[in-house]
Amino acid sequence: RRIDFIGVATASGASVRGCGMGPEALRVAGMLEALIDLELDVADHGDLRNSHAGLSTTPLSWRTVEQRKGDVLELAQQVSDAGLGILDAGHFPVFLGGDHSIAIGTVSAVARHCLPKQRPVHVLWVDAHADYNTPETSPSGNLHGMPLALLCGEKEFDASYRGDWLGRIDPRNVTVFGARSVDREERKLVQARGVEVIDMRKLDQLGIVATMQHVIDKAKADGAHLHVSFDVDSVDPSIAPGGGTLVPGGLSYREAHLVMEMLHDSGLVGSLDVVELNPFLDHGGKTATLMVDLVASLFGRSIMGEEAGPVEFV
Ligand code: ARG
Ligand code: MN
Ligand code: MN
Ligand code: MN
Repeated sequence: RRIDFIGVATASGASVRGCGMGPEALRVAGMLEALIDLELDVADHGDLRNSHAGLSTTPLSWRTVEQRKGDVLELAQQVSDAGLGILDAGHFPVFLGGDHSIAIGTVSAVARHCLPKQRPVHVLWVDAHADYNTPETSPSGNLHGMPLALLCGEKEFDASYRGDWLGRIDPRNVTVFGARSVDREERKLVQARGVEVIDMRKLDQLGIVATMQHVIDKAKADGAHLHVSFDVDSVDPSIAPGGGTLVPGGLSYREAHLVMEMLHDSGLVGSLDVVELNPFLDHGGKTATLMVDLVASLFGRSIMGEEAGPVEFV
């Protein structure tokens, strides 16, 4: 199965600029080469970006909140259409962000692809945050904190957010994994809608194996397409400093790899986002390189070069 990369060069959903350079940094860190090394078939569609780019409408400062909202929605539509094309052609899309608002488009593509087949979509949202704010609950107004709420059909988004391109997912099929910063009103919404939150407390107590097995079993039982949306801030800032909304106490190097390795062995993952990498804040490509290695684990790189399968002691 061919793996199709597509960059989404934007920071419009974030308050801090720089993650628009994410796709290029991931390529420079060797993303495609890592998969070619695994003897996988890969293709690169280049980057999607807002059409105003280069017009220099606000040359000396960041765009206004209203302008950025327009940018996010214009791009989400492009991402949704391009992603749907890749999925319908039978390929595996890997979306390189860009801030997490790009998932409005990526998850929409998956939902649209699965709708005619009546295949459920499960989303594994690996993130320090829940990204389930609405325009009402958001403390910041930044759209990268809201994609899940929009995708799950929260009503507080006005009509301008909606269109044929917008997909819909069931909040009960969403698992937020690695959370440690959830806003007060956001927490209430997540709980009311039945989003499963495997926060750092649970991870400390139960570990990666039990929690990931639960996520995998749920998706398997449902015959679901599993979409993984990986925010670099899920990982501990000490090893992943290249993000604009860092929170201490994240996944360790080994925990993050085990997540990816178990996902690979499950065979259930059908699409992936790698988001929120900010090369301007990264330390010499450290976070970009880590993300390349994590993606390679998701696509089957293993230490001994063979399928690990369930661990057995003889
Ligand atoms: N919860 C905060 C907000 O709504 C932070 C969101 C951070 N999201 C992200 N994708 N990094 O603004
Ligand atoms: Mn398919
Ligand atoms: Mn996020
Ligand atoms: Mn985050």
